[in-house]
Amino acid sequence: MVPSEKLHEELVRVRGLVKYFPTDDGVLRAVDGVSFDIVRGETVGLVGESGCGKSTTGRCILRLIEPTEGEIRFEDRNVMAMGKGELRQLRREMQIIFQDPNASLNPRMKIGDIIAEPLVIHDIGTKQERRERVTWLLGKVGLDADYSKRYSHEFSGGQLQRIGVARALALNPKLIVADEPVSALDVSVQAQVVNLLQDLQKEFGLT
Ligand SMILES: Nc1ncnc2c1ncn2[C@@H]1O[C@H](COP(=O)(O)OP(=O)(O)OP(=O)(O)O)[C@@H](O)[C@H]1O
Ligand SMILES: [Mg+2]
Repeated sequence: MVPSEKLHEELVRVRGLVKYFPTDDGVLRAVDGVSFDIVRGETVGLVGESGCGKSTTGRCILRLIEPTEGEIRFEDRNVMAMGKGELRQLRREMQIIFQDPNASLNPRMKIGDIIAEPLVIHDIGTKQERRERVTWLLGKVGLDADYSKRYSHEFSGGQLQRIGVARALALNPKLIVADEPVSALDVSVQAQVVNLLQDLQKEFGLT
């Protein structure tokens, strides 16, 4: 049995997060003192007008960009103090899905290779095992296994975002940061992708 504290365990803790970008007109305060917690299994939405720093906050949590200041903890590990090796491990546990699936998927790679890439980067499984996992992941996001041999230009926005989701799931992450994953899609497709994310969240206990 899971002890009850575990159920309400903080997965992410952000305190006083600050990110300044130097620009020609001086310093741009993209994120200026943001604090929040995310409990395991919870869905947290960051809402605000365009340019208020939502994407920057998401990228800081994964340290895809370096925060200027603040505290970030993931499972009580200090993300800000992590070295290369620890960050590498962290990026197995956290994944990000971007707004524009066209821009975030390499057009010169086959879909199967795009989905398997995180496994290759982290040196997980044999070629055959990775192929099997890609087939399984495609099934999980509602796509045909044959799609693995095709390229991204052959797919619709909604299909591409499913591919992005499959890629994000490849390493069995604990946290998925979804940066407006459906805002570039047709309204009719948005609901399908949101439903898919909700189903997968339940099935895999994602946050
Ligand atoms: N690499 C960068 N260099 C300079 N300024 C940046 C950089 N990235 C973001 N900014 C600026 O930081 C601010 C916050 O940007 P961010 O992308 O986080 O906003 P957002 O809340 O995600 O907006 P949107 O809803 O439009 O996606 C904006 O003013 C943006 O122009
Ligand atoms: Mg954004």
